[in-house]
Amino acid sequence: MNIIHICADPQPMEEAASKQIAASFFASIVSRNENARISNIDLTQEPPSLYSTEEFRNFWYPVLIDGYVPTKEEEAAAAYANNQAGMLLEADVLVLTMPMWNYSMPAMMKSWIDHVLSPGLLYDITDNGGKQSKHKLKKLVLLVSSHEVFSEADPRDGLTPAIETAFEDIGLDNVSVIWADGQNPKQHVDFEARKLMATEAAEELAEEICDDFN
Ligand SMILES: Cc1cc2nc3c(=O)[nH]c(=O)nc-3n(C[C@H](O)[C@H](O)[C@H](O)COP(=O)(O)O)c2cc1C
Repeated sequence: MNIIHICADPQPMEEAASKQIAASFFASIVSRNENARISNIDLTQEPPSLYSTEEFRNFWYPVLIDGYVPTKEEEAAAAYANNQAGMLLEADVLVLTMPMWNYSMPAMMKSWIDHVLSPGLLYDITDNGGKQSKHKLKKLVLLVSSHEVFSEADPRDGLTPAIETAFEDIGLDNVSVIWADGQNPKQHVDFEARKLMATEAAEELAEEICDDFN
């Protein structure tokens, strides 16, 4: 089992609920599957650039404009996306770890997704404009933390539906969300219990994933 872990939480581990949940999730994976290959990418250490005009032209103009051939400069601008998506093509499971920021995902995570979901990498765009999947990812896991408490299908949640929809669109519709909400200790006296619940859910999910891939 090959897992790619993308983390967009700048806080140190001891202060970062999402990272602590990720640590328990991966400890549980490793204890059950010694052959699991895990690649960690910390976007706070290696932040992706914003999507550029050249990159847009490289990936999207050939789809939008018949016969468009990217320039050398446009091809060069695609290096990061090619590299990140290349790793994803080898992966079975993708894990995204992040806090909620302004009811959405941190900009670095959004940017990473913009790069890897460019046409021609994990999917092709067909003649009728549909998307044809090219990857072998079977599972997407979102590990999220937030100060506020969110209900199921909460209209304030602009994070999980956006990511789920983007990946469902390229054929990855097996998604699990583990969410430690209520992490503001001044507002939620039970913040530790909430984190513990999320940690236990992450460990159970890890067990299920290991069973599925055995
Ligand atoms: C820029 C910024 C924006 C935030 N926006 C929200 C928000 O919209 N809703 C929320 O519940 N918490 C928000 N928070 C709080 C974080 O989600 C919260 O601190 C989270 O638990 C931190 O996660 P961590 O412990 O994993 O680092 C925000 C924090 C920051 C720094």
